[in-house]
Amino acid sequence: MRAESNDHYNNTWYQRTAEIESLVLHGLPIKERYEREVNFVLKKGNLNLRPGDKVLDVASGIGEHARLISRRTGADVTATDLSENLINQAKDIDSLQQQTRKDAYHIVGNVNYEVRDMGDLETKKQYKAITCMGTSFMYLGTHEAHCKALSDWHKLLVPGGKLAIQWRNDMRSVAGDFKVDANLSKRTKVSYNPGLDLLRDEDRGDGFYFKYGDQESTQLQPYSDLGKIRKNVFNRIYIDEQGEEHDLGKVQAMDYMKKDAFPILKRMLEEAGFKNIKLVPNEKGDPLSPDGNVRMFAVTAEA
Ligand SMILES: C[S@@+](CC[C@H](N)C(=O)[O-])C[C@H]1O[C@@H](n2cnc3c(N)ncnc32)[C@H](O)[C@@H]1O
Repeated sequence: MRAESNDHYNNTWYQRTAEIESLVLHGLPIKERYEREVNFVLKKGNLNLRPGDKVLDVASGIGEHARLISRRTGADVTATDLSENLINQAKDIDSLQQQTRKDAYHIVGNVNYEVRDMGDLETKKQYKAITCMGTSFMYLGTHEAHCKALSDWHKLLVPGGKLAIQWRNDMRSVAGDFKVDANLSKRTKVSYNPGLDLLRDEDRGDGFYFKYGDQESTQLQPYSDLGKIRKNVFNRIYIDEQGEEHDLGKVQAMDYMKKDAFPILKRMLEEAGFKNIKLVPNEKGDPLSPDGNVRMFAVTAEA
């Protein structure tokens, strides 16, 4: 299953679908979304990072969260992802920035990049914080693999070190409402067709849709008193500017991101050895939740 996920994220079109997704579902150009997510976690997650602190960002994608965390705090960040393609893109962004040093979005911090499986990390106690940003804590295939990952991450943290897992919640309910960023609709024309689950960038003429496979709700033993976790199976089909379809491959995800899954996640974190576990919701007034709905949240915990 992990290999299938990796095919999906190794696909050269994946990051383009993430850009379109951000515009259509989250009402933000992706670089602004990265900024807001990092600001949110640093501010609300109380990571208390100082220059030189060591941070591990797991499932980092192209490393934007990692670079921003490093720039904001001076921490040394190791950005890790299973996708070689995304790690290569991350390194390319760094080299480009080193050549130009113009685009503030791409300013490099103290970040190094490694292709690593977040479910299979070594466990040398060394990090002041571990971050798992952008709805990435869901791809390890089984519930047991997620529990093992949390236990390993606990062992990687110095005493009192912090873990922050951040989700961008499903924002389909706000599709079409681009008031999240008042100027976005002037700059970019996007559309969402709920019947086809088709997201399009009308300016560029490309888009993608989700093709869902069987979903199942799993009663997790020994958590049956706490509810069920849904497993989602889906493909992304990217439609390029010429109308040609590219299937990115299948992904399986455990739906720990829903707010009502928090009791399960809390117990998983406790069993992994974490304490001071907090659900950090977005609050009314945050740019990502203009009507007060929780559309982004994080879980923080202490080793
Ligand atoms: C939704 S993307 C988010 C990426 C990045 N955090 C961001 O917000 O741009 C999920 C990421 O999880 C990564 N991933 C999936 N399975 C993984 C694994 N077993 N170990 C490490 N990364 C994994 C994918 O390669 C992909 O980069």
